[in-house]
Amino acid sequence: MINAHLLQRMINASNDGIVVAEQEGEDTILIYVNPAFERLTGYSADEVLYQDCRFLQSGDRDQPALQAVRQALKEGRPCREVLRNYRKDGSHFWNELSITPVFNDSDRLHYFIGVQKDVTEQVKAQQRLSQVEQKLAQARAELAALKATNGPNKSQV
Ligand SMILES: Cc1cc2nc3c(=O)[nH]c(=O)nc-3n(C[C@H](O)[C@H](O)[C@H](O)COP(=O)(O)O)c2cc1C
Repeated sequence: MINAHLLQRMINASNDGIVVAEQEGEDTILIYVNPAFERLTGYSADEVLYQDCRFLQSGDRDQPALQAVRQALKEGRPCREVLRNYRKDGSHFWNELSITPVFNDSDRLHYFIGVQKDVTEQVKAQQRLSQVEQKLAQARAELAALKATNGPNKSQV
């Protein structure tokens, strides 16, 4: 069985953000953030502890994925969504956020573990692919229209 000290070292060494939050009224407030979260967001633990993580959205609140997060939290379900987030310096990144609720028997409280992964490169590659696919579909449609205008025999001349 892994001891608590080794577990702490593993979490500190993680390449992805790992945070723990607890319910406080309507908010889920941060009570732990690991060094990778500090590196990813540019905020130190001291600056963000006891705040709800929504500060990372920086006013960019009209995101369908956020609705899915809200619903999952309300129903006490785990979720995984990709959100637009902003670092302390204002730069944007795509955050694949996984949240899991954990009920602690000893204090009978609900906690949440959140894992933040920077998927900016993957999202950008996906966006480029979608653009290329759109252009290809458009070119195919134009070609089909051109063939239809010229008639079936003309292309054989
Ligand atoms: C453990 C945990 C980690 C979270 N991490 C993030 C995060 O990295 N980025 C983010 O935009 N929202 C994060 N959230 C979601 C927000 O805290 C909040 O639940 C979300 O914005 C929906 O609630 P709201 O509509 O009241 O803002 C996290 C929530 C929990 C419980």
